[in-house]
Amino acid sequence: MAISSPLLYCFLSLWLGLAVHQLEASHQVYRNLPTYSQLTSSHHHLVNEPYRTGYHFQPPKNWINDPNGPLIYKGIYHFFYQYNPLDAVWGNIVWAHSTSTDLVNWTPHDAAIYPSQPSDINGCWSGSATILPGGKPVMLYTGIDPQNRQVQNLAYPKNLSDPFLREWTKIPQNPLMAPSQANQINASSFRDPTTAWLGPDKKWRVIIGGKTNQTGEAILYRSKDFLNWVKAKQPLHSAEKTGMWECPDFFPVSIHSQNGLDTSKIGPNVKHVFKVSLDNTRREYYTIGTYNIDKDIYIPDKGSVESDSGLRYDYGKFYASKTFFDSSKNRRILWGWINESSTVEDDIKKGWSGLQAIPRTLWLDKSGKQLVQWPVVEIEKLREKEVKLPSSVLKGGSVHEVLGVTAAQADVEITFGISDLKKAEVLDPSWTNPQLLCSQKGASVKGGLGPFGLLVLASKGLKEYTSVFYRIFKDHNKHVVLLCSDQSRSSLNKDNDKTTYGAFVNVDPLHEKLSLRSLIDHSIVESFGGEGKACITARVYPTLAINGDAHLYAFNYGTEDVKITGSACSLKTAKIN
Ligand SMILES: *[C@@H]1O[C@H](CO)[C@@H](O)[C@H](O)[C@H]1NC(C)=O
Ligand SMILES: *[C@@H]1O[C@H](CO)[C@@H](O)[C@H](O)[C@H]1NC(C)=O
Ligand SMILES: *[C@@H]1O[C@H](CO)[C@@H](O)[C@H](O)[C@H]1NC(C)=O
Ligand SMILES: *[C@@H]1O[C@H](CO)[C@@H](O)[C@H](O)[C@H]1NC(C)=O
Repeated sequence: MAISSPLLYCFLSLWLGLAVHQLEASHQVYRNLPTYSQLTSSHHHLVNEPYRTGYHFQPPKNWINDPNGPLIYKGIYHFFYQYNPLDAVWGNIVWAHSTSTDLVNWTPHDAAIYPSQPSDINGCWSGSATILPGGKPVMLYTGIDPQNRQVQNLAYPKNLSDPFLREWTKIPQNPLMAPSQANQINASSFRDPTTAWLGPDKKWRVIIGGKTNQTGEAILYRSKDFLNWVKAKQPLHSAEKTGMWECPDFFPVSIHSQNGLDTSKIGPNVKHVFKVSLDNTRREYYTIGTYNIDKDIYIPDKGSVESDSGLRYDYGKFYASKTFFDSSKNRRILWGWINESSTVEDDIKKGWSGLQAIPRTLWLDKSGKQLVQWPVVEIEKLREKEVKLPSSVLKGGSVHEVLGVTAAQADVEITFGISDLKKAEVLDPSWTNPQLLCSQKGASVKGGLGPFGLLVLASKGLKEYTSVFYRIFKDHNKHVVLLCSDQSRSSLNKDNDKTTYGAFVNVDPLHEKLSLRSLIDHSIVESFGGEGKACITARVYPTLAINGDAHLYAFNYGTEDVKITGSACSLKTAKIN
């Protein structure tokens, strides 16, 4: 399938001069990098491709993983991502590139960063954008060098008059940061630079994920000029027994407002968020805390949990995430990779693997103890055919079909009203793991208050469905709300990973609204509980509940009735690339 591209070859030889012959010999694969127009010549055939998404970002084919370097420049959103141009499995990694004016409809461009220098000849891995004074974007990213060491490189746009920033230039000084005997950095555990931030001393700081033995580390570097980087004596932060820290993210949030902040912002009304992706468990966690600029260390708030049993952006499939500050709308936006739950064989058969979650606005909750996330408001312009659910009582043991929407591609939000909390089951003190609790008490296990929620991507007759639901428990004089996403009945195909996901949601059902929003998109169910206090993303592969044969239900298998109000919308198909 791969067609050799003389143009690209020419481009490479311009960069590398004579070295290109060596490149040709040992890295033929990049000579065959197809251009984007060749990639996009295949069209979507929804009938044959029931798992293709209608509005979640994905290229026409092949493997994608981490979001890279998101930014806004001259009113245009840029999104880069780890991409294998040749296959539906990981390998040959380059930075693919797309742009958008609304974060919903995307235009693909040719790969922005691909192996071309010794410092990245074996791969261009993840990194982040920093906007330098004067509004000039630069990228710091991890390259894999000829000795397969992980090193950090810089690339900048070739032509700042091009709002699409189509071509990127690498500096000859690369790599700017490298492992050595002297700095004791492990060459296979040194990757994923963050967006850099500027301190009051006019020095830039950046962190890179690392580990020493099983202690995860945010390795800190400083620079006056963005070119010469000096490793700090101590990391910005570290935590024992967490293993390799991938894709760290470190950013300020406002204490008083939902507005996002520039990454360099510090001050009295600011807290900091520190997030890592754990290579050991393939899960992320974050803490909220204080950035001590004098000592250049991050201190998580008292009571923070330093492991993936702590706070997570998403309690389902969501990894290698990254935020950026959208200066045009004063918000901080989160991107995250959604992996498959199918077998590698099935991925190869369908020709693609991986997507991106809908970008989410995020901010600090009023409690100051966790973040809140919500799909960017722009996604709502895809809504059509809104169906208002008649305000009604969902009797214990009943199922109610939501008619009139395209159930395979929808945005649904329901609020549950509970009048009597007395029937809530007592929470056993040993039930501390929400995922385990959800898998023990799935959608078909009757309870007092709950399970109630949605059956999505459901077949007529309910041979297949994914259930997203709540259960409410009593714990001394308070209530505990559990949100579950149960995939165990999502597909007749037995080969998929159907792990049940769960999270506790910090909502008081006596005094606060209890709502659930789900973005349903053929093979993705992205759910937001408690108005964005807990999110769960699942990948599912129905065999019956596909396209027009998918149905949507509200259900209540508890003994107590619940009141429901809400609405469901079909979502139009976006230009997802
Ligand atoms: C830079 O981009 C602008 C806008 O696309 C274009 O008009 C101009 O020709 C480009 N300059 C170069 C040197 O390519
Ligand atoms: C460096 O990291 C790699 C990858 O995790 C690990 O296998 C190796 O043992 C580490 N080396 C040292 C000296 O810690
Ligand atoms: C890492 O583990 C090795 C072997 O157990 C030990 O010699 C070394 O001191 C440890 N390094 C640190 C920084 O703890
Ligand atoms: C992606 O999903 C596959 C299949 O479920 C799993 O084996 C793999 O560990 C996942 N990788 C990550 C990074 O989540």
